[in-house]
Amino acid sequence: MKLFLDTADTNIIQSFAQLGVVDGVTTNPTHLSKAGGDPLKHIQTLCAMLPNGQISVQITESDPAAAYAQARKIAELHKNIVVKVPCHEKYYTTIHQLVTHHIPVNVTLVFTTLQGLLMAKLGVQYISILVGRIDDSSNDSTRTIQDLRALIDSNNYKSMILASSIRTVGQFHDAMLAGAHAITMPPEIL
Ligand code: E4P
Repeated sequence: MKLFLDTADTNIIQSFAQLGVVDGVTTNPTHLSKAGGDPLKHIQTLCAMLPNGQISVQITESDPAAAYAQARKIAELHKNIVVKVPCHEKYYTTIHQLVTHHIPVNVTLVFTTLQGLLMAKLGVQYISILVGRIDDSSNDSTRTIQDLRALIDSNNYKSMILASSIRTVGQFHDAMLAGAHAITMPPEIL
């Protein structure tokens, strides 16, 4: 079970790094904007703080060709970076190209089991299931994780389920027991 912090705050990451229970961080454009300064330099700082951890960094380009070029540039910053790409049909070719070039991908904004199945077929490393947002829309994130885990296991896919958008300790607990391989959460929840 991998545990990630969903933040780009260096003070918080430093304090958790000493505890030894954190396997990396997941960031998004909002986190990096809050951190201020040059986002690429900030990402390199995060990588240096967690030399054995994975750092998810999201693309911001919307055009698929520009998104692919940006993803390659982000991945070149450090060997431990996982490029985060939204689960939208227009990026499927981009995701396929990145996986083909052995670039680790974390696909975010996955809301359904069937979206997750397509991402597992593409061979991404992490499938981010947005637990809090699924629950906000009165759907069942636990069932989504259970069903996707069953499909991953029965097909021997290599992808891992990353439960994200965790807002409560209860969601952390339920996602873990439902079969998530990894969980990312705000520091206050961890
Ligand atoms: C996921 O990719 C995001 O970084 C984050 O987990 C979303 O959390 P939120 O739904 O609370 O904004």
